[in-house]
Amino acid sequence: MTSQITIRRPDDWHVHLRDGEMLEAVVGYTARQFARAIVMPNLTPPVITVAAAEAYRGRILDALPAGADFTPLMVCYLTDDADPAEIARGYEQGVFAACKLYPAHATTNSAHGVTDIRKLTGLLETMQRIGMPLLIHGEVTDRDIDIFDREAVFIERVLTPLVRDFPALKIVLEHITTAEAAEFVAGSGPQIGATITPQHLIINRNAIFDGGIRPHAYCLPVAKRERHRLAVRKAAVSGSPKFFLGTDSAPHGIGRKEAACGCAGIFNAPYAMESYAQVFDEEGVLDRLEGFASEHGPNFYGLPLNEGTVTLKREDVTVEDVVTHGDIRVVPFHAGETMRWRFVG
Ligand code: DOR
Ligand code: ZN
Repeated sequence: MTSQITIRRPDDWHVHLRDGEMLEAVVGYTARQFARAIVMPNLTPPVITVAAAEAYRGRILDALPAGADFTPLMVCYLTDDADPAEIARGYEQGVFAACKLYPAHATTNSAHGVTDIRKLTGLLETMQRIGMPLLIHGEVTDRDIDIFDREAVFIERVLTPLVRDFPALKIVLEHITTAEAAEFVAGSGPQIGATITPQHLIINRNAIFDGGIRPHAYCLPVAKRERHRLAVRKAAVSGSPKFFLGTDSAPHGIGRKEAACGCAGIFNAPYAMESYAQVFDEEGVLDRLEGFASEHGPNFYGLPLNEGTVTLKREDVTVEDVVTHGDIRVVPFHAGETMRWRFVG
């Protein structure tokens, strides 16, 4: 049995680092495991200008623990009024790595999101021309659509026509949760990729209702049936360059999760690589972890691979019940469980 693995330094292609105190509390976990991360722009107010992205990048760098070697990659939050000239300028100056499409009201801090993608035609033409990736939260927001069907319906109603109308546009379908999404991405051209979170590889929807309501297992897109988990898992471990690591680590203070209307989001940053290693190990393909974690993402984005390596050891690690930083308390994914791999660094 393999007792340790060493791989090229990985990146996280989807993370929520937040701002202020929460940023200080969480950024070290991501910076410890990952060389770079695509930082989601759903702050209040959202990051929509080059200046706001540069300022946010500065706050992230300031919040890093001493000696950290970590590069935040900034993202522009799209609204109905997104300005193609501003966005192209941000991309060409190396400030924006991508744009994020949140359908309005799909999830946390998406109130300013896009009400109708047809309003973005000019911008999408620009992005297609300059090669700028569009990152998509792929759920319809129609309350008449069952919450467990919202990703599949988005693919049918929005993504399929989008790919047809913008055949060269680079698109990442973020945090995929369904067999439909895995199939769509696998069956599309090389310009379409997807990120996959630890939780969607590990839990199905039963985890949200396991002996009572479990707010810390709730995120969006919500975990689906077991057959979907298996399909997403198969895609992740397939070795296909279209699928890559994106934790969607999304911390909320304990009080905002354990509430009558709890926030969506799972804080998985502290043990992210442990989670993924466990999945690839269980599937008997630890040799494919490096591609998923460290190669497919940069190749999709057209960025260089990281130099240097990290090591994971087959050792038991018990996950704490709560991560604390000053007044901030966040429950991590796997709280109280024993992980079978340990990230050494
Ligand atoms: O569960 C989620 N939490 N899904 C998202 O799309 C947003 C995220 C957050 O920002 O909390
Ligand atoms: Zn997210």
